[in-house]
Amino acid sequence: MSKDGQTSKLWGGRFSEATDSFVQRFTASVTFDQRMAMEDIRGSLAHAAMLCKVGVLSGEELAQIEEGLAQVRGEIERGEFQWSVELEDVHMNIEARLTQLIGITGKKLHTGRSRNDQVATDIRLYLRGACDAIGTELTRLQSGVVSLAAQHSDTIMPGFTHLQTAQPVTFGHHLLAWNEMLERDHGRLLDCRARMNQSPLGAAALAGTTYPIDRAHTAAALDFERPTENSLDSVSDRDFAIEFCAFGALLLTHLSRMSEELVIWTSAQFKFIDLPDRFCTGSSIMPQKKNPDVPELVRGKVGRVNGHLVALLTLMKSQPLAYNKDNQEDKEPLFDTVDTVLDCLRAFADMVPAIQPRQAEMREAARSGFSTATDLADYLVRKGLPFRDAHEVVGKAVGHGVAHDCDLAEMDLDTLRGFSDLIGEDVYDVLTLEGSVAARNHLGGTAPQQVLAAAERARQRLQAR
Ligand code: ARG
Repeated sequence: MSKDGQTSKLWGGRFSEATDSFVQRFTASVTFDQRMAMEDIRGSLAHAAMLCKVGVLSGEELAQIEEGLAQVRGEIERGEFQWSVELEDVHMNIEARLTQLIGITGKKLHTGRSRNDQVATDIRLYLRGACDAIGTELTRLQSGVVSLAAQHSDTIMPGFTHLQTAQPVTFGHHLLAWNEMLERDHGRLLDCRARMNQSPLGAAALAGTTYPIDRAHTAAALDFERPTENSLDSVSDRDFAIEFCAFGALLLTHLSRMSEELVIWTSAQFKFIDLPDRFCTGSSIMPQKKNPDVPELVRGKVGRVNGHLVALLTLMKSQPLAYNKDNQEDKEPLFDTVDTVLDCLRAFADMVPAIQPRQAEMREAARSGFSTATDLADYLVRKGLPFRDAHEVVGKAVGHGVAHDCDLAEMDLDTLRGFSDLIGEDVYDVLTLEGSVAARNHLGGTAPQQVLAAAERARQRLQAR
């Protein structure tokens, strides 16, 4: 309380007692929203310049505000700024410090705006920047995936369905499947960025303002595509935060699937790949262990990101227009989603180029798992047998292989002809792993030639971005 019985709050005029100290802490957001300090200053500079242009502030007042905000920015960057919970949030902390520095002119900055349009502007600016940083990491990861794929366009591994050996594929083909998931994520990121790129500044509290503001001017100064259309919607909308979290949840879902495969592939039972020691940790009790902690942790992170998406959807559900204090709850889930997405992308972008496939083990797994059974069926079809009958014949041959512990390619011609006399010497061409993958030679297929071409197209798409 100040001497005249008023509180020291920027909004304290109509209050006659100080805020309860718990309530003060409970309602404050400065501990986490100070992350948007640079965006807040940028928004204030644009707002002040616009007020000067339309004659609400004088040139001298604008110069004072600019100088003051530059000083505040310096204090924040140097870590000298005194954040105060009593001043509630990032917006009022900065405004109060500005007024301390430049006096009465500082109090004019808030003319024609409200914290409601201010915070909506800050989050959009912050998130737009975060999208750009995430896009850079995503591109780095995709480039790593695509170039590893090109290196392994003819490295053979078993492809799985139901986690059972199905048909041989190339490792490059598998990696390009990962890239397709990431490519869709990238598209969602850019869509979400484009939709959020509108300026809510000027909506003021909810209805607009009586000052002759120029919203196009502030929108352009802040590199927004255009001003938002409706003032009520501008201060109440958090769709962009939800969209971003939905993007994050799906991206992390994809990374968790890749993680799961890396975990399986590094296991002693599979031994398909090695991950360098720097991405793994040991066990404090079992000396032999080298655990794939990085992929496991990424796999686990999807839980919190999914949680944040649900938190934001629930936050907005049934909320009446326009601004409600509930909306202050948008920031922590959003910020943690940004941090988690960036960390997971960084981990993956660093790790993927370091994956070392164990080609002999992959090949052996493909060879011993009857993975060319479909090729034998297709061969019989080409010799005139209906597919269902061919399926039956090959099923019998596989049963024989299981009983005698030998693969189809290891059976001699007489044995194979015992299942169908349509089988000839040329059958061994299709029973080989190379023959099997090379035969799937069409757009989207696993043939090495297709994989190389697909990797090149993917590389060009990334480059054009
Ligand atoms: N700290 C608030 C938030 O994060 C800023 C907007 C507050 N507006 C208000 N009228 N109380 O949402």
